[in-house]
Amino acid sequence: MDKFVIKGGTPLKGTIAISGSKNAALPIIAASLLGNSPSTIRNTPRLQDIYTFNNVLRVVGAKVDFQEEQNTLEIDPTGVSHLEAPYDLVRKMRASFYMLGALVGKHGYAKVSLPGGCAWGPRPVDLHLKGMEAMGIDISLDKGYVIAKADKELAESSFTLKPSSVGATVNLLLAAVLRTKKFTINNAAKEPDVVQLCNFLVKMGANIEGIGTDTLIISGVDELKGIEVDNDPDRIEVGTFMIAGAMIPDSDLTLTGCNPDHLGSFLPVFKKTGADVKVDGTTISVKAPKQLKAVSIKTEIYPGFPTDMQAQWATMMTQAEGASKVTDTVYFDRFSYVPELTRLGADMHLEKNTAHIQGKTPLEGASVMSTDLRASVSLVLAAMVAENTTEVLRVYHLDRGYESLEHKLNAVGAEITRVDE
Ligand code: EPZ
Repeated sequence: MDKFVIKGGTPLKGTIAISGSKNAALPIIAASLLGNSPSTIRNTPRLQDIYTFNNVLRVVGAKVDFQEEQNTLEIDPTGVSHLEAPYDLVRKMRASFYMLGALVGKHGYAKVSLPGGCAWGPRPVDLHLKGMEAMGIDISLDKGYVIAKADKELAESSFTLKPSSVGATVNLLLAAVLRTKKFTINNAAKEPDVVQLCNFLVKMGANIEGIGTDTLIISGVDELKGIEVDNDPDRIEVGTFMIAGAMIPDSDLTLTGCNPDHLGSFLPVFKKTGADVKVDGTTISVKAPKQLKAVSIKTEIYPGFPTDMQAQWATMMTQAEGASKVTDTVYFDRFSYVPELTRLGADMHLEKNTAHIQGKTPLEGASVMSTDLRASVSLVLAAMVAENTTEVLRVYHLDRGYESLEHKLNAVGAEITRVDE
């Protein structure tokens, strides 16, 4: 298992090109299976989750050609015939569950493994299943698999997501566009990843009203065609590197290929820290302030502060002057990074779903353990500001969601070595 050995204390200076978004690519990769001809997705990041999903598509019979050097993914769905997504792949990557909507939407049948845990347990999928049942799809559970069956034209219906869910919105869109007469999703997710999916489906020939709002109305069509698109840039990667540029003293980072409009409420909150931010088209520049101000945040569904940025924010707050609070209202337990940061010397503690942080505290290198994608990148941020050397273990978590992370950071002054231990 690989680890990062990171020598802290060097400022980051230079330019980083932002990669395509993992969370935006996965839904449109699934949507390509709805077409009656091949699709091409440019700006697809070279990430473990993409490779895993490509294998899931191959298992069902699609032809998938990933031209990695060009970040271009070509998918030919015309050979899909095996309408099952197996546990050993779905358990590796939760978004494989999108296969349920794509296969039942296109073929009227799907057998897909539950994504680990149970339908109603941690990271549940109950809304996916209840929404499909409301659509008129027959849902049954069989030894850890979901079996979905649907006739050609399902009657007009609607469903309200409580709470709003990105994954459930994606799965219901995939199931509805070819299968239903008319289906309304209330309290739909509005993340840019969902907007990109809706635009992709409409370009394929789907009929969707309310794109970008929390009410999506899908009127079924007879067929969809394959298309070519450019995948969105990764808004979470942008936020992560903005935080790096603000919390590592004397840093001056320029991020290219961004879409600032996708940052929601992150950008105005970020500016409150005193970081010097300039936005110029698709370029965002960040200079570290002499002194970071402590700013509390609470995550919300889009366009609120993204839960995928709360670990990185808490890490930055250890370097801010004063007390701050980080509350996650989307995932109450997404704080596995807290004990690891305290091992580096951070002064923080958890009360329910809020981390209380007292800054500014000097951090001292140590060995720390990655536990999930965003927690892991937070440990890398902390290691780059810590005195001496930090070992971040199990960086396979990072390889799921950050393309060439150490190369990008080393190119602007970081000292990160990947070691296969
Ligand atoms: C997506 O996960 C993202 N993953 C997550 O990013 C992100 O954290 C999350 O949305 C929230 O923004 C991808 O896009 C691949 P949800 P998803 O369904 O769709 C509850 C990362 O780091 N819920 O919007 O699984 C759920 O428990 C990953 O890149 C139900 O109760 O998230 C949570 O509290 C991590 N029942 C809330 O909704 C359901 O059926 C939001 O979850 C589904 C969800």
